[in-house]
Amino acid sequence: GDLKPEYRPGLEGVPAAKSSISYVGIQTTESGNKEGVLEYRSIPIQSLAASSNFVETAFLLIWGRLPTQTELTNFSTEIYSHRRIKYRIKDMMKCFPETGHPMDALQASAAALGLFYSRHALPNQDYARQAVIRLLAKIPTMVAAFQLMRKGNDAVLPRDDLDYAANFLYMLTEKEPDPIVAKVMDVCLILHAEHTMNASTFSARVTASTLADPYTVIASAVGTLAGPLHGGANEEVILMLKQIGTVANVRPYVEQCLESDPKYKFMGFGHRVYKGVKDPRAMILQDLAEQLFQKFGYDPYYDVALELERVLEEYLGPRGIYPNVDYYSGLVYRKMGIPADLFTPVFAIARVAGWLAHWNEQLEANRIYRPTQIYTGEHQQPYMAIGDRE
Ligand code: SDX
Repeated sequence: GDLKPEYRPGLEGVPAAKSSISYVGIQTTESGNKEGVLEYRSIPIQSLAASSNFVETAFLLIWGRLPTQTELTNFSTEIYSHRRIKYRIKDMMKCFPETGHPMDALQASAAALGLFYSRHALPNQDYARQAVIRLLAKIPTMVAAFQLMRKGNDAVLPRDDLDYAANFLYMLTEKEPDPIVAKVMDVCLILHAEHTMNASTFSARVTASTLADPYTVIASAVGTLAGPLHGGANEEVILMLKQIGTVANVRPYVEQCLESDPKYKFMGFGHRVYKGVKDPRAMILQDLAEQLFQKFGYDPYYDVALELERVLEEYLGPRGIYPNVDYYSGLVYRKMGIPADLFTPVFAIARVAGWLAHWNEQLEANRIYRPTQIYTGEHQQPYMAIGDRE
């Protein structure tokens, strides 16, 4: 047809798919306050954080409903038994520079996984299930393996007796985690599992729409998540808190940033959807951070973070800019002893569930993504011989 929609930078407000996987929005409470809403398959994130576990949440997102006990047991057992990675994947990762960023290592490893499994014409339900199991099982192992191997250690094998989150922490730290820490990690994974049409999910769906294999779909999405405007912000937040250093330095730091650039982007603040409200995930993550501080000791960076939130509410609050998911997650991971450059890979481990749900959904009613552009160049220019150019 003669469709000439107006150009929307960042595709703001443009629907890119019909989806029943998750919902984000803003609602007014009975007391008249505005709050952010996030639901996975119509279930509020708060209920899932309180009562579900990551594997169950992944099942819910990917297959569209909560599993029965038997289904959950089978799904978990299957994932747990596929957590090892091939020697050749480890050998490949050993060749990566230890100074390289773990997100780059993860993107390369996710793509390499696909080399080992034969491709199928898509869609194919059995193949999809296999890929879902393998990706959910092996991505955490690859993150942990790179962490140990870049320190010159051997990767440890997954432990069959440990659940998803506990085993990941075990593989990362080489010791069995405190059950409270493992539980908090599990909730973090639930909170990061899915978030509608964000940049990495859109990337996954675009790649999926070409009928590329699922390992390639995940590799595309990992690459898109890595940037500091998206998942990479959680690492940047901790670097910023470190740079600020003390509560007293918060206001001078903010003023200095805004003086040098009135549009300075403070990491961990702002969101395309949660305008004027704090990200509901940030509130739960803040609670989790406080729980860890009570149990395992305080983190003075938290005082800096609280003060920065207060000061930025003055400066940015009136424009609707509040903390997002990436603001407090790093403080949680830091208390667990996870290095800052693994924060975004942890986000990726969780988001694999959402990306896979979108991969499936895309293939259910696929049409290749092929938008248009607004051409701003000229036409029919002469080709000038190289010697005639200035
Ligand atoms: C994630 O999309 C998702 O759902 C993503 C995510 C998920 O779960 O998948 O929630 C995960 O990516 C969280 C966001 C992590 N990124 C950051 O924390 C980086 C800092 N944030 C910003 O760059 C920004 O807020 C974005 C990228 C999150 C959102 O970008 P938008 O929607 O394009 O908003 P914008 O940049 O156009 O900002 C609108 C206005 C601008 O001012 P004006 O030009 O209108 O005067 O708000 C200002 C911006 O300058 N602004 C900020 C700011 N964020 C927006 N000013 C200062 N600090 C900020 N952080």
